[in-house]
Amino acid sequence: MLSALKTIVVSKQTINVAVDQSHLFAALAGRITELALQSIAQDGLFSMALSGGSTPKGLYRQMALLSEQQFPWNMTYLFLGDERCVPHSDNESNYKMISDSLLSHISIPSTNVFPTINQDKDPDHSAKVYEQTLRRFFKLKDKSQQEFPHFSLALMGLGEDGHTASLFPKSEALHEDTRLCVANQVKTAALDTTRLTLTRPVFAHAKKVFFLASGESKAKIFNDVVSHPEKGYPSQLVIGDCLPGVVEWFVDEPCARLILKE
Ligand code: 6PG
Repeated sequence: MLSALKTIVVSKQTINVAVDQSHLFAALAGRITELALQSIAQDGLFSMALSGGSTPKGLYRQMALLSEQQFPWNMTYLFLGDERCVPHSDNESNYKMISDSLLSHISIPSTNVFPTINQDKDPDHSAKVYEQTLRRFFKLKDKSQQEFPHFSLALMGLGEDGHTASLFPKSEALHEDTRLCVANQVKTAALDTTRLTLTRPVFAHAKKVFFLASGESKAKIFNDVVSHPEKGYPSQLVIGDCLPGVVEWFVDEPCARLILKE
């Protein structure tokens, strides 16, 4: 049963609000299931770029409860929206988080899941290999053709500095308009590291983009991103790159506190 979502439109953005985090994850798992079934009926498969970080853990755990009778895992293809340059055994690894919360609990063929390779040893080369993986899967011609993958769904997170995936403020990757995946140097107050990330054109060409944010700690940045487009946050750039109707927000009431107040 889909948990209740209140849908509002603010600054032309569709925002689905759940009363709390558990209702948010249950409702979003339901929406992703619906989208997967539609994508398979329409395109014969469901391809999803997964967000990393900590918020989606609860969503992935909710999705992990869905049997192959409830979710078309055998026709679902999972990719990483971004990855840290650590071994997949490292607790910082997004692939480890996704494996622990989702992959190890579902019967999805291993050939349907695409982790990065050697991201800890050679980030630049790993990004190039991941790009080739995407090109092969989506049957894209070579780079010069300016073709991009059309993911059925890109699931995006929101950092408190307005970043999404590993597209951080003032980082080089924000200006990448040709490559599909890059190793991005990230320097913030909290980070000085390299991250692999899919690029803005990849997210811009997804058929649907769901942003997931939860909790009081994201209330200010969420309000800024939705109500102050002039700020130029990476998440706003990604939203601005997408066609109308592609992007939807999925948040809980603590995260939407400032938006709901207005
Ligand atoms: C990552 C994510 C990143 C994340 C935001 C929010 O690799 O960290 O892809 O974009 O979604 O940083 O992270 P939290 O959900 O942990 O707040």
